[in-house]
Amino acid sequence: MDCLLQLRQVSAAYDGMRALEEVTLEVGGGEAVAVLGANGAGKSTLLKTISGLLPPSSGDVFFAGLRLNGLAPHQIARLGILSVPEDRKIFPGLTVEENLLTAVAARSHDTGDYRQDLVQLYGWLPWLAERRRQLGWALSGGEQQMLAIARALMGKPKLLLLDEPSLGLSPAASDAVFQFIARIHAGGVALLLVEQNAVYALTGTERAVVLERGRVVLAGPSAELREQPSVRKAYLAV
Ligand SMILES: Nc1ncnc2c1ncn2[C@@H]1O[C@H](COP(=O)(O)OP(=O)(O)OP(=O)(O)O)[C@@H](O)[C@H]1O
Ligand SMILES: [Mg+2]
Repeated sequence: MDCLLQLRQVSAAYDGMRALEEVTLEVGGGEAVAVLGANGAGKSTLLKTISGLLPPSSGDVFFAGLRLNGLAPHQIARLGILSVPEDRKIFPGLTVEENLLTAVAARSHDTGDYRQDLVQLYGWLPWLAERRRQLGWALSGGEQQMLAIARALMGKPKLLLLDEPSLGLSPAASDAVFQFIARIHAGGVALLLVEQNAVYALTGTERAVVLERGRVVLAGPSAELREQPSVRKAYLAV
């Protein structure tokens, strides 16, 4: 599989306090990779470093052969890396559709007509189409998470970074979010998925890594990690 994203010994720090330690990681084109780890392990930091919000203190990040170090977040988004942060960031005062259209600015010039993508998206999520003139904030937590992911999709990602998409959601709402993510992945978008629901994280992805205090301590096919005693004990509670 062609390598789309590659991190080579990437470290990152907040005011000198190290949060990522020489992380080496690859995501192939169209591949889904899960990131597991305890609270504070560095999962969100990893996504922030890839999206340009926190520059690496050492090491290199490559995307489609291009070195990302030093690029601004909007430049990285334009290359096709879109992220859905933990807090979703639905814009207050904007309707559902206006929220979706804010991501159009992140598209590169060769991605076609965004209106076709909007029609396809509404075909997938008819309830979102029905509510497109309502304020984004009028949606429930699960619906807002779907909107945040849908908005990233309108940016035409090659790689989607998802930070704990099921956090705080009911099992039913989580299922809807996971189904939506699976559909996006089936459409050929690569995923780097931070997810506390390890059952989903290790079934909806091809490969996974486990972070511990900023380091990758385990990596492999998700199906193999599901059988690892240490993973089963720490993340699957069996
Ligand atoms: N803005 C910040 N300033 C200073 N330190 C931070 C900041 N954000 C995170 N950290 C620290 O960096 C480390 C990694 O945090 P990070 O948020 O990446 O962990 P995480 O794996 O996403 O945890 P969680 O499961 O709680 O979301 C932690 O020690 C955290 O306290
Ligand atoms: Mg986090």
